[in-house]
Amino acid sequence: MGEQRSPRPLLLLLLLFLGLLSQVWAFPFSPSLDLDVTPRTTVFTKGLLGSQRFSGSTQNYSTLLLEEEMGLLYVGGRGALYALNTSDISTPGNLMIDWEASAEQKRQCLNKGKDNQTECYNHIRFLQRYNETHLYVCGTHAFRPLCAYIDAERFSFSLGMEEGRDRCPYDPAKGYTGLLVDGEMFTATQYEFRSSPDVRRNFPIPTLRTEEAPTRWLLEADFVGSVLLKESINSSIGDDDKVYFFFTERSQEQMAYPSQTRVSRVARVCKGDWGGQRTLQRKWTSFLKARLVCSVPEYELHLNILRSVFVLQEQDTQSSIFYGVFGLEWKNIKASAICQYSFSDIQRAFEGPYMEVQDSKWREYTGKVPEPRPGSCITDLHRSQGINSSRDLPDNVLTFARRHPLMASQIQPTGARPLMFKRSINYVKIAVHKVPALDGTIYTFLFLGTDDGWLHRAVEIEGDMHIIEELQLFDQPQPVESMVISSTLRSIYVGSHSGVVQVPMSSCQRYTSCYDCIFARDPFCGWDGKMCVEISSQAQRSNLTQDILRGTRGCKNSTEYVLHRRRSVMLGDDVLLQCELHSNLATPRWTLNGHELQGYGLNSGYRVGTDGLLIIGARPQQNGSYHCYAVENAVWVPLHVYTVRVHTDLSFPVEPTATTNPTTVSSTAIFTTSGPTEQPLPSPPAPLPPGPEFQTYRHMEAMYISLVAVLGGLCLVLSVVLLYVSFCTRGGMRDRKYSQQGLQVQGATDRKRSSHLELKTISSHCNGRQGRRSTSVPNIDDMGEGFLQIVPGEGQMSPKTPPPAPPLPMPPPLPNLDYANGLSATLPSVLRKMNGNSYVLLRQADPEGTSPLYHSFTEELNRILEKRKHTQLDLQPDESSI
Ligand SMILES: *[C@@H]1O[C@H](CO)[C@@H](O)[C@H](O)[C@H]1NC(C)=O
Ligand SMILES: *[C@@H]1O[C@H](CO)[C@@H](O)[C@H](O)[C@H]1NC(C)=O
Ligand SMILES: *[C@@H]1O[C@H](CO)[C@@H](O)[C@H](O)[C@H]1NC(C)=O
Ligand SMILES: *[C@@H]1O[C@H](CO)[C@@H](O)[C@H](O)[C@H]1NC(C)=O
Ligand SMILES: *[C@@H]1O[C@H](CO)[C@@H](O)[C@H](O)[C@H]1NC(C)=O
Ligand SMILES: *[C@@H]1O[C@H](CO)[C@@H](O)[C@H](O)[C@H]1NC(C)=O
Repeated sequence: MGEQRSPRPLLLLLLLFLGLLSQVWAFPFSPSLDLDVTPRTTVFTKGLLGSQRFSGSTQNYSTLLLEEEMGLLYVGGRGALYALNTSDISTPGNLMIDWEASAEQKRQCLNKGKDNQTECYNHIRFLQRYNETHLYVCGTHAFRPLCAYIDAERFSFSLGMEEGRDRCPYDPAKGYTGLLVDGEMFTATQYEFRSSPDVRRNFPIPTLRTEEAPTRWLLEADFVGSVLLKESINSSIGDDDKVYFFFTERSQEQMAYPSQTRVSRVARVCKGDWGGQRTLQRKWTSFLKARLVCSVPEYELHLNILRSVFVLQEQDTQSSIFYGVFGLEWKNIKASAICQYSFSDIQRAFEGPYMEVQDSKWREYTGKVPEPRPGSCITDLHRSQGINSSRDLPDNVLTFARRHPLMASQIQPTGARPLMFKRSINYVKIAVHKVPALDGTIYTFLFLGTDDGWLHRAVEIEGDMHIIEELQLFDQPQPVESMVISSTLRSIYVGSHSGVVQVPMSSCQRYTSCYDCIFARDPFCGWDGKMCVEISSQAQRSNLTQDILRGTRGCKNSTEYVLHRRRSVMLGDDVLLQCELHSNLATPRWTLNGHELQGYGLNSGYRVGTDGLLIIGARPQQNGSYHCYAVENAVWVPLHVYTVRVHTDLSFPVEPTATTNPTTVSSTAIFTTSGPTEQPLPSPPAPLPPGPEFQTYRHMEAMYISLVAVLGGLCLVLSVVLLYVSFCTRGGMRDRKYSQQGLQVQGATDRKRSSHLELKTISSHCNGRQGRRSTSVPNIDDMGEGFLQIVPGEGQMSPKTPPPAPPLPMPPPLPNLDYANGLSATLPSVLRKMNGNSYVLLRQADPEGTSPLYHSFTEELNRILEKRKHTQLDLQPDESSI
């Protein structure tokens, strides 16, 4: 495996690079694809509203069973089971069953050479309802799987333990799926370390399995999900119910993309299968599998690893929809795509032509197919021919079925493309919910869990995905292991290593203004004139406003929320006019005395970032009234008004403390502020609507920018490739410590920040499984002289490891300085979007311990803004990347 792997990363990188290049090239000549969606807002754990947490004495809360009618959420953790109250999982007095492997069992496990940190515990892998009174549970039990019945009412074991070897994998991390329906248990996994993967019916007798010879039905399959579809209901042909299994396996057929060795599949069996009489005895007679395709045509990118599925079942089985989360085979590149499949497309593949091995290659079979059709369930047609069960099937049909488990047709997603593609994020779990909006339209709402503990809430609007927000569920990055949604309680329950968290499906109170409420395009929320409310909680809905389709209409132009400030600045000094944008999709626009400021180039005297406008070397003509607007969905929302006075008079009173300490910079820049003023607010000047000349200007500018971006991108990508090769292929991939140490050394010796930045970016790629937090670890050493740093990554607050404080006395307190609106106090912890798909955190090393006033403001600002120039170019969030 290892030797085979090495050329693949390079190929993939090249592929990505080409895709990237074509995309950069396309801009601005063609509209950029809105495939890589940026979450509109970012919410950290502190900002989660109405969330509840549960965490017992154990860890690995990997199995969840929601019983809405009972009001209970059953949780299977490591060595323990819990029954939690669904209305609030943090309610004390939860029921618990302690089920850890015995010391003797653990010792035996250790003797087998297993890991005493993970494998030699009882990880609960299966937890489902058995009958009205009992649950059925299976655990790995320190490498000796056991299953048991639980009396649900008393929440305790009843009867004895059962052998679990055929029902539950030994390995706690092995892909596994199972279903318990009508007293029948279906499971799929690779049970033992050495055995082949298998789809089984464990009970009742006869147990059924997949075939291994002469044709292997499954090859290194990694299962992610299963579902029962009751296709017998209202079936005109007397069809049977079917169980569908979803997995990724090693591809047997010739692949169009030689770099890929694995392939995503859906397989299905008939619930009423009894196996064959002579041929396929105790084997499925109805096992068929087909390939699931999820590709981004523009990038020539084929996402072949299935990570999670959700089947949205409708009353009418035929209208059920399958959603899959796909990733790349190469684990070190983070990327995800959501593909949607219709039931009829899946059904059509199973009714289409078969594949066959000819000359040891898989090819489409074009010969005669025996009757009745191999692999089909027993239907009325069969019964009319006297075939009452799979045991009555003729031998030639079964022999054919045995050799033809694979269908020739590939299942394409709806629209022949993913619903959504996301770079630099690994989604690992998906849940789908239908929600009616005010206009009566029913929207598809996606909840997506990431491999580092975030939840994305996204809505499909006319075929496009809009990520409303990203929520940080856990302080420590950890993969979302399990996720269930309750429509009656409007809650999502997410299990992970450290605990279970319950979050409401929506938190409309988080939108604090009408614009925020409307721009969010959250089908759960509407503006009632005063606040953003949950639509479902309102009996009277006629006064609510919502605009899911465009996210623009319904708010009155109001200056109510506009903050009014004054700034005085000495001639030639710098001043920051702060204007924070809450939304990652908003662009800042500024006007001076009613005219829009444009082209914030080096000589313009202005720089703009997503947290404000910097006036550099103030000149008299920069006097005036500045208005900051957040432009989102083409609507200009006024946020701040600053009246700036540039003082040429040297006798202007200078901040007294400044002279006492020459190291402070107060003498070079003076901020005075009156706070929100009482004076009447001048009506905000109508912002210049982008006229035709403006458009051409913009277009030319965009062309220049894109040229520069292409060249810059080329350099960057080439250096990334080079560095990647040197870091990742030299075994750094396998040894995180090694690569991190390498980085630290590099970071310490290399004073150039740009290359340092690249190194860090790479580190996050090399360490595919590394959390957001750890990506920033190597930076810390490098912060001695700079208080602000850019942390590449996805917006995780970094750990507080204060740098050694400079040996300077604390500066005296500076009265009158409007810190809340000045520079120092607000720049830290500001999360920034960078090129649409990644975030940059402008972070201050230690806001409490040390003060940025040790350095000249000018120096500091310039340094910040040099870095922030990246964000300025962000006219269209999609055109550049990685
Ligand atoms: C269990 O949780 C720990 C962290 O608490 C993690 O390292 C380990 O991989 C988890 N094991 C499984 C099987 O998920
Ligand atoms: C859950 O808690 C609520 C109140 O907190 C209570 O009314 C309800 O009975 C509890 N449900 C169960 C199943 O204990
Ligand atoms: C088992 O775990 C302990 C820590 O709990 C560790 O010190 C010990 O080395 C481990 N033993 C083996 C055999 O892995
Ligand atoms: C459910 O199954 C358990 C275990 O087989 C059995 O003891 C119990 O009687 C069953 N309950 C009902 C209502 O059938
Ligand atoms: C199938 O069932 C029908 C009626 O139930 C019966 O007449 C027929 O003999 C059965 N056929 C076989 C092969 O068992
Ligand atoms: C609000 O302002 C926009 C321009 O930003 C303008 O097009 C629109 O007509 C205004 N609406 C009202 C109700 O004044």
